[in-house]
Amino acid sequence: MGRQIELKDLTVRLNERVLYDKVNLTVAEGDRFVFLGPNGIGKSLLLELICLGNSRELASRYKGLSVSGTILDSDGNDLLNPAVSRKIAYVSQNEDFYKNKTVREVCQTSCNGIGIDLNEDKLDYLLRAFGIFDKKNQKIKNNVSFGEGKIVHIISRILKLEASNLFILDEPLNHLSFKNSKVFNDLILEEIQRNPKLSIIMVSHCRAMNFAEKAMVYTTENRGIVFRKYYSYDCFSNSEYAECF
Ligand SMILES: Nc1ncnc2c1ncn2[C@@H]1O[C@H](COP(=O)(O)OP(=O)(O)O)[C@@H](O)[C@H]1O
Ligand SMILES: [Mg+2]
Repeated sequence: MGRQIELKDLTVRLNERVLYDKVNLTVAEGDRFVFLGPNGIGKSLLLELICLGNSRELASRYKGLSVSGTILDSDGNDLLNPAVSRKIAYVSQNEDFYKNKTVREVCQTSCNGIGIDLNEDKLDYLLRAFGIFDKKNQKIKNNVSFGEGKIVHIISRILKLEASNLFILDEPLNHLSFKNSKVFNDLILEEIQRNPKLSIIMVSHCRAMNFAEKAMVYTTENRGIVFRKYYSYDCFSNSEYAECF
């Protein structure tokens, strides 16, 4: 399998504080990682650098940000350059919705962003799986709860996977019920079966993801990332999960 992304000598600082120190790692096609590390060490920042580039907007949010090194995509482009186009399905930690759009319109906009049409059948399937089909043509504002909004964001990104081999997720399970966390896990397994080249990096403090083979673990000692085996606790396999909400 080929390269999906490669970090080369990536160093990230916030003023004097070094978050990442000359990190080198490769994510190959088909790799599926859960990214683990303490709060505040820069997991979200790294995902934003990969998915959005080292933009002015990012620098305005992360005061004192300086970045060196490269993040190469499969074509050898440097993703740190915000102008480089990228086909990444990215579930961000804090999605700011266009609240006057309907659920369907949010999903349509997401698909258009990657140059594909909305797959209506798949949207219906995903909405039904998460139990929010009745919200399809309702506006986000006044109709969609915070947790449901998170689900809409996830669905809008799963739809992008028709045109993307890279799924990057930043704590997607926050605000989801246990049942919908399992729905999410099962949907990921379906996507992997459909597209074995799909690579996944997912920040999550939940340890139940049985799609993940390895963990990317932040190491405080050398401000780097190491790979370890990922151990999932088996609660999603419990046949009595239906009693959980
Ligand atoms: N909105 C913000 N304003 C100022 N500094 C921030 C903000 N968000 C994050 N930071 C700084 O960036 C560091 C890394 O944050 P982040 O990438 O969100 O961490 P993680 O995702 O690992 O919890 C934080 O420790 C904090 O110092
Ligand atoms: Mg974070």
